[in-house]
Amino acid sequence: PAEITLLSARDLTETTCVVFDILRATSSMVTALAHGVPEIYPVCTIEEARAMKAKLPEVVLGGERKGDRIAGFDIGNSPSEYQNLQGRRIVTTTTNGTVALRACERAQRVLVGALLNLDALAKVIRTSVPENLLLVCAGTFETFALEDAYAAGRLIAEFTGATHSDAAQTVAAMAAHYPTPLEALRAARNGQALTATGRAGDVEWCAQVSRFNVVGLMEAAVIRPLPA
Ligand code: MLT
Repeated sequence: PAEITLLSARDLTETTCVVFDILRATSSMVTALAHGVPEIYPVCTIEEARAMKAKLPEVVLGGERKGDRIAGFDIGNSPSEYQNLQGRRIVTTTTNGTVALRACERAQRVLVGALLNLDALAKVIRTSVPENLLLVCAGTFETFALEDAYAAGRLIAEFTGATHSDAAQTVAAMAAHYPTPLEALRAARNGQALTATGRAGDVEWCAQVSRFNVVGLMEAAVIRPLPA
């Protein structure tokens, strides 16, 4: 039997979601927040992003399609482009990451996850003790992405005393299999594709664990920094 899980059909009203798109959307967002960006607006389509820019001309328009900067946009989706935007607001649309974030909109709480802020995420979750925690792995198009599951597994490993689903236990065991995060990201198809297109530096950046002490909190479709 086939199985399709539609996130939109789930009741998330008592759930904290942590959204991971390690390569590269949520890593770029965490990088931006850590460098003084006060607000990020994740949107699903290029048209929505352009419409927001028309209304708010001062925003930085970022994102990608097929990994590349979108025509007419200010920046693409490389974390290296999100380090010098202090005080600026960003509108971004990416193939999977921003869509996954917006799909969680009705959740009790939505956090932006990355390896870059793993300790901070664990700290925020420990402090708030959510009833239900759903780790949302954005994936690549409709498919599973190793790097997102790896990050989810690393976060789950921080909560040894809690009750975990089979999926949660599986990704924790999978993550433990890799000696280093960089090896996991390099094994991933996305990691290989980015390396093949000259973006190995992005893969290395996104593989850094707990470099930043900030978590993104999405409320009413706006992501703001939540210090851990
Ligand atoms: C996405 O949102 O699909 C990814 O972050 C794509 C990318 O690596 O830029």
